[in-house]
Amino acid sequence: MTPRRYGASAAARLSGFAIALCMLSGIAAPAPAPALDFTAEEERRILRHGPWPPASQPDPSNRVSGEPAAIAFGRALFFDPRLSLSGEVSCATCHPPERAWTDGLPRSRGQRTVDRNAPSLFNLRFNRWFGWDGAQDSLWAQNLRPLLDGREMGVGPDGAAGLVRSDRVLTCGYRRAFGAAPGADDERIFVDLGKALAAFLETQVSGRTLFDEFRDALARDDAAGQARYPAAAHRGLRLFVGRGNCAFCHFGPAFTNGEFADAGVPHFVEPGRVDPGRHGGIRKLHQSPYTLLGRFNDDAGRSTAAKTRYVDLRQSNFGEFRVPGLRNVALTAPYMHAGSLETLADVAHHYSTLDEERLHAGGERILRRLDLSARELADLVAFLETLTEKAPRHEFVEKPAEALCR
Ligand code: HEC
Ligand code: HEC
Repeated sequence: MTPRRYGASAAARLSGFAIALCMLSGIAAPAPAPALDFTAEEERRILRHGPWPPASQPDPSNRVSGEPAAIAFGRALFFDPRLSLSGEVSCATCHPPERAWTDGLPRSRGQRTVDRNAPSLFNLRFNRWFGWDGAQDSLWAQNLRPLLDGREMGVGPDGAAGLVRSDRVLTCGYRRAFGAAPGADDERIFVDLGKALAAFLETQVSGRTLFDEFRDALARDDAAGQARYPAAAHRGLRLFVGRGNCAFCHFGPAFTNGEFADAGVPHFVEPGRVDPGRHGGIRKLHQSPYTLLGRFNDDAGRSTAAKTRYVDLRQSNFGEFRVPGLRNVALTAPYMHAGSLETLADVAHHYSTLDEERLHAGGERILRRLDLSARELADLVAFLETLTEKAPRHEFVEKPAEALCR
């Protein structure tokens, strides 16, 4: 593998003396300081993590995707605690915008404590499956789950539809978003709430980061731009796309391949009860009336349902969880599906000391115990931190419902 130079100008910066010395001794010319030059293969792997933000299209399964009136209605619903049985829990209870849409708890607490960690809500529009177990195949269906689950909000289809019909502001918001007053079919209104919430959440795409600046500088062979990337992050990035093999799963612009894997994280919920992960998710998906195969998909051709149609249950799905995206990851501690790791240093340590015996030996082994040095652990963390925005914008509106229909 030949190291790729920062650009033609880089060679010119090497002193003639150094070059002559190298030629005499027969060694390749050293990379220019502070360079940690990437090989062509490494560079190819790095470039695949951008550009950011990627282009996006409205969701064909949701007829109000991208519609401003639905976005406004969805925002109001997100902050409305009347969508819980207790009247005290809203989506923002577990996904507060000022904390990067996550609550900082290992496992979330709504009306009661749940089994899993609340994921951040950035970049959902690029997901293929939703929830740690992928039990939902659309963003709108995912948004219905807390409304159905008594531990979270539990208002249910009739409770939610009743609220929308009886509240003047919500009725008006619904009419503006969907072009008609809420009808008599509770379940249809209920699903529409999921769709308005989805229209709102689709707007939450994380911003550009130090990594993106570096990646784009690499793409245009801009040495000065690349030099601004911290040296430790540079080394961590090399581990991430190289020996660590992290990019095998944390792949692409959002740093996830969108699929499921066993990363060696224990999945006991409590003694004697395990979280089945993807295995349970597929079973729920097959039973749900709210999938892309069902009557609520607005895409008449059902082309959006292809992936759902072909999902089948395998024993190897047991204990697999969705590969999380890593953008803004420094803001979303604690980590993993049940928040079992407190810091990014703990995550790096986890991969470094991985117990390979714990992993399913399904086919080719992707994860290996890395035995990283203290400096390598710090480098990996430094790299992960550069995937985080300096100052994420956060959407906080004092009384969103009142702004809906004056
Ligand atoms: C009790 C706390 C709690 C409440 C309330 C709550 N959530 Fe969540 N949310 C979670 C947890 C925990 C998960 C992970 C669920 C899982 O994998 O089983 C999650 C997952 C999600 C996801 C999937 C993210 C992904 O990466 O796949 C979305 C979207 C979401 N919630 C939106 C909402 C919306 C919209 C509401 C309000 C209607 C809401 N949540 C209410 C805790 C909560
Ligand atoms: C085989 C696929 C795979 C590989 C390879 C992999 N990961 Fe992961 N990663 C996952 C999965 C799956 C999870 C969630 C596991 C869980 O919650 O049980 C995860 C979780 C994480 C998280 C926590 C994110 C969050 O929001 O909770 C971080 C950070 C992370 N991985 C970084 C890395 C790094 C760094 C490497 C390389 C050393 C790596 N991953 C290699 C699949 C992988």
